Amino acid sequence: MSSFAQKLVKWHQNYGRRGLPWQGVRDPYKVWLSEIMLQQTQVATVIDRYQLFLSKFPTVNALAQAPLDDVMALWAGLGYYTRARNLHACAKIIASEFNGKFPEEPETLNKLPGIGKSTARAIAAFCFNHSASILDANVQRLIARVYGIEGSLKTSSENKKLWDLADQLVPKEAALMPIYTQALMDFGATVCKPTAPICQNQVVNNCVYSADCIAFKNGLVMQI
Ligand code: ADE
Repeated sequence: MSSFAQKLVKWHQNYGRRGLPWQGVRDPYKVWLSEIMLQQTQVATVIDRYQLFLSKFPTVNALAQAPLDDVMALWAGLGYYTRARNLHACAKIIASEFNGKFPEEPETLNKLPGIGKSTARAIAAFCFNHSASILDANVQRLIARVYGIEGSLKTSSENKKLWDLADQLVPKEAALMPIYTQALMDFGATVCKPTAPICQNQVVNNCVYSADCIAFKNGLVMQI
């Protein structure tokens, strides 16, 4: 395993977030729902709504058969309502064209409404141990800092660099992909944060990457 992945998995065993209802879940319907909700809504807000949603629509077929108005009503308060419309459209496609079964390949998942490249890979990693990295905003920041990639991360050349690096860093053992992927998300959200990352704490900096992190060693963390 790359030492990057090794450190991350070990960190997660000791400090990763615990007790969230979508953790350790392998059912693609439930994983997909949680990933869409978590894209633009805080964890604390998502928890209750995720459970309520699953109790009303326990399967992708149940969601596909529901009237759009019912889905929109249940989404109320989560914001970014295009997500709810895409969710319903996607459920209908899974029900009608995939016999109610989510495809396993990220490339196929990525073609469905509301499922971007990183979300497609997250679903494939969590549910099917697929060996390809995610690259959401948290992971972009983490990798850019550790590898000292400066400049706008939005340009296509920087973006490609980050995707390539992210893919090189995934553990060789496919069985580790769910935990590794969750660890990437948790680390970016709780340690390598946009503001006040752990390494900037003068009293206790216990970031597992401080010895290697190029941004940390060069005082560039807050610029990246
Ligand atoms: N944000 C997006 N997906 C997430 C997940 N699985 N856990 C925590 N935060 C997330």
